[in-house]
Amino acid sequence: MDLELAGRRALLLGAGRGLGGAAAVALARERASVALVARTRAAVEERARLCREAGAPQALAIAADATDPAQLERAVHDAAAGLGGLDVLVTLVGGSQPGGAEMDDAGWALALDRNLWPAIRATRLALPQLETSARERGALPPASVDAPGSRQQSVVLHVASIWGREGGGSMSYNAAKAALISLAHEQARELAPRGVRVLSLAPGSVLHPGGSWERRLRSDPQAVAEFVRREIPFARFGTAEEVGDTIAFLCSPRASWMAGACVVVDGGQSRSF
Ligand SMILES: NC(=O)c1ccc[n+]([C@@H]2O[C@H](COP(=O)([O-])OP(=O)(O)OC[C@H]3O[C@@H](n4cnc5c(N)ncnc54)[C@H](OP(=O)(O)O)[C@@H]3O)[C@@H](O)[C@H]2O)c1
Repeated sequence: MDLELAGRRALLLGAGRGLGGAAAVALARERASVALVARTRAAVEERARLCREAGAPQALAIAADATDPAQLERAVHDAAAGLGGLDVLVTLVGGSQPGGAEMDDAGWALALDRNLWPAIRATRLALPQLETSARERGALPPASVDAPGSRQQSVVLHVASIWGREGGGSMSYNAAKAALISLAHEQARELAPRGVRVLSLAPGSVLHPGGSWERRLRSDPQAVAEFVRREIPFARFGTAEEVGDTIAFLCSPRASWMAGACVVVDGGQSRSF
C-alpha cells in the first residue's frame, strides 16, 4: 500500500535509535523528508544517513536536548527552516526512573521533563507550521457536513506506553505517560478543526540496541526472560521496526479518520481493552 507520504516533512524528537530511529527510516522509505533530533550528534547523523539511503529526499540531523526549552525551540526552528515547513511531528522523548510515593520533587520534575513537557512544548512550537501546511493542502473542514472532506491533515503523534493506559512501570513514568495520552486526546479535539490530527501510541516492551530493555536484559537475563514469557503472549519482545512501521501508517493520509485515539502496539501484552 502506498502510504501517500511522499514529500511530507516530518520532525521526530528522540530519533537517534530505537522507536524514533525506526520510525524515521519507515517514513524515509515512503519518500518523506525527515528531521531527526537526539542529544548524541553522531547517532542522529548516522540515522539521517540511513534515512537518505532508504529514500528520504532530505534528512536533517539536529543535536539537541528536547527537555531544554531553548534547545527544543531551536530544534523545531531548524527543522522547519531546513525542510521548508512541517507536516508531521512525532514526539518520542521519554523514559522511566525508579521511585514511588516518597520520591522527591526533583524526581517528579525529571519524569515530567522527560515524558510530558517536550510533547507540550513541541506541539506549541510546531503548530504554526503544521497549520500552515494543512491549510495549503486544503485540509480544513468542508463547508457542509455531507461533503467528502480532506484526508490531508497535518499530524502530531505522541509516543506514550501501555504503562500510561494501565498499571505497570514506575509510578512517575505511568503518571506522566497517562498525562501524555490525555494531552493527545484533548489536543485532537481542539486541533481537528484547524486541520491537525493528533494521536498517541502505546507500545509494549520493545528490545533494541541501546534501549532500556537491553540494559535490563543484560543485568538480569533470567528475570527478564521470565517477564517476557509471562507477560507477552508471543513470548518475545517487540521490535523497533514493528513500532516504526505503525508510526509511519498513523502519520499517513491512510489513517485520516484516526484522531484522539491511543493506539496500542504491544503484541497482546497489555491486560486492558
Ligand atoms: N522501548 C520500549 O520498550 C518502550 C515501550 C513503551 C514506550 N516506550 C516509549 O517510546 C519512546 C522511545 O523509546 P526508545 O526505547 O526508543 O527510547 P530510547 O532508546 O531511550 O531513546 C530513543 C532516542 O531518544 C533520544 N533522546 C533521549 N532523551 C532525549 C532528550 N532529552 N532529547 C533529545 N533526544 C533524546 C535518544 O538519544 P540520546 O540519548 O542521544 O539523546 C535516542 O536517540 C519513549 O518515550 C519511551 O518511553 C518505549
